[in-house]
Amino acid sequence: MPMTGKKLREHRLLLKLSQAKLAELSGVSQHVLSAYELGKIDLSSDASKAIDIALQNKEAVATLVKREKRYKAHEYIIPPRLPERVSKAKITEGNSRYREVIDGLLIKHNDKSEGRFSAISLFSGCGGFSLGFSAAGFDVKGYVELDEDLRKIYKENFPKSREIGGDITSVDDSKLCRYVEEIGSVDVIIGGPPCQGFSLSGKREVTDPRNQLFRHYLRFVDAFRPKFAVLENVRLLTSMKNTEGGFVMDDIANAFKDHGYKIKLFEVNAKNYGVPQHRDRILYIAVRNDIETAPSLPEPTHTEGNDFLLQAEPCRTFADACSDLAYLESGEGADDPLHEAVKHPAHVIDWLWDVQEGFSAHDNEDEGKRPPSGYNTTYKRQVWLEPASTVQTTFGMISGCRNVHPIATRSLTIREAARIQSFPDGYVFRGSLGTIRTGIGNAVPPLLAYYVAMHILDKLKFCKNSQPPN
Ligand SMILES: C[S@@+](CC[C@H](N)C(=O)[O-])C[C@H]1O[C@@H](n2cnc3c(N)ncnc32)[C@H](O)[C@@H]1O
Repeated sequence: MPMTGKKLREHRLLLKLSQAKLAELSGVSQHVLSAYELGKIDLSSDASKAIDIALQNKEAVATLVKREKRYKAHEYIIPPRLPERVSKAKITEGNSRYREVIDGLLIKHNDKSEGRFSAISLFSGCGGFSLGFSAAGFDVKGYVELDEDLRKIYKENFPKSREIGGDITSVDDSKLCRYVEEIGSVDVIIGGPPCQGFSLSGKREVTDPRNQLFRHYLRFVDAFRPKFAVLENVRLLTSMKNTEGGFVMDDIANAFKDHGYKIKLFEVNAKNYGVPQHRDRILYIAVRNDIETAPSLPEPTHTEGNDFLLQAEPCRTFADACSDLAYLESGEGADDPLHEAVKHPAHVIDWLWDVQEGFSAHDNEDEGKRPPSGYNTTYKRQVWLEPASTVQTTFGMISGCRNVHPIATRSLTIREAARIQSFPDGYVFRGSLGTIRTGIGNAVPPLLAYYVAMHILDKLKFCKNSQPPN
């Protein structure tokens, strides 16, 4: 009978054996050990056997426990600014156009002309989804967000929007009725229920209560009866099963149908809508049955190849988003307080210093310059002239997935991540750096949201039964 994850951890700590050393001894990756100890996954029988054998080898365990650390974790150096690297990071032609586009979102958001269509944002985070809809001309009348610090960022940028609640599960039906009376009908409900329950970075638990949060989204749909609803989530949702073995994505679609909506699930990549980032997501578009139009998405505006039929432009790149920003090495800062590079330990800079764009420190020929554990998606440089990799909440960690700047040897700054996510520089981010990173990493890119919103706006303007407000 294999040890449980918890017991393995206790036993390992008793032996004073680090996870990295057990990984080295057993051949089971540290990532797997960590997930197992946290109860996130089960072990294969091969991995379980390998761990048993490793732990029984008392001599090898003792030698490894005694072995000194390869690196002193907190030794820092200021890396040199090599002129050839600084000049390689030169401004691209697309950069100023892109900045104009995203700055334009903020200008449109601040232009409060009358007679706008209305929306409500659920699970609003720091407001990425909302910014796109507001820029397209929607008045985002209310929002719901659990995290108090994210609510502060949201309020700062949407001061007139009504805070409907923190925890959506606490907005009971009577409260909801009161809000409907106060706010009135809305044209669209937007929202992305948290994805931890569905994503690889969390435990993919069918009984995780977060997977049921979309039912609360539906309560809002029932109460406000919007003409359209847009629900965003991670692509992995499409493989998530419910307790009966059916697909969660079908449950969501069927629930909307039962509530009187036509619905379609679309797979989208933000890079196809002018966002300089690979970001694979799903969008459900739901349309109330009496509205005479089918759920649809706008045509892509940007493509990877030359698609003359689509008349789309080439995808934007990391450099289009960031090449005007000050070149920073580890620990350096600029005038913009959000463009400040995290200070990384000297040994990590050493691993990454000569790593080429698109490669990881795990690819180093010199074994001494490879991180002791992990996959080659970690400690990995992005590519200057390609769309950036998906911005996650951990983009400040150099050990994370593809978080290393293409040319400088450091993780991404908050300003870079915000640009890659298509937040204009004028969008206000306040609070702890952790909150800001979480808000940005979880956001729907405002530019993607803008194109979706414009598409829905066109339908609202021209579809029968769907007249603009007085
Ligand atoms: C994926 S993020 C949404 C990001 C947002 N769509 C944007 O574009 O910025 C999900 C958000 O749901 C919030 N959340 C989680 N549980 C919640 C709950 N029970 N009630 C309300 N909000 C919740 C989280 O704090 C998180 O900010």
